[in-house]
Amino acid sequence: MSKKVIDLLNAARSRELTAISQYMTQHYELEDRDFGKLASKFKEIGIQEMKHAEKLAERILFLKGEPTSKPDAVTKKGQEIPEMLKTNIALESQAIKMYNDASVICAAEKDQKSKELFEELLGDEEGHLNYFENVKDHIDKLGTAYLAMQAG
Ligand SMILES: [Fe+2]
Ligand SMILES: [Fe+2]
Repeated sequence: MSKKVIDLLNAARSRELTAISQYMTQHYELEDRDFGKLASKFKEIGIQEMKHAEKLAERILFLKGEPTSKPDAVTKKGQEIPEMLKTNIALESQAIKMYNDASVICAAEKDQKSKELFEELLGDEEGHLNYFENVKDHIDKLGTAYLAMQAG
């Protein structure tokens, strides 16, 4: 099996571990600042990232590789909500680029299952990006009025 594909799967796993830590941190911080509605949605996305990290690990093990446990970036703490969204939009955009590129390489390496896994994750990451961009738009347009609706 291709070492190239295992490396791509592990790079993706590192990205997922970053996202998990980042979204869970934001979840606690938002909860603490009484933005409960936003907090529970961020938590829900974090749990989806956990499932991604698991699926990647299973695929890596199947290919006889070793799943990494290292995130690829440091978790940002204490950000204001607009900065959180900037962080998350960057994480998701980079993941989408990374997974699109990876699926092309998997096809070239004739690893259809790994390609399908990247495509499956892509669908979720596009949904996450869309959500974070929508929240950013609402804040840009409505500001504190929108944030007030996220309390509770
Ligand atoms: Fe993910
Ligand atoms: Fe995501």
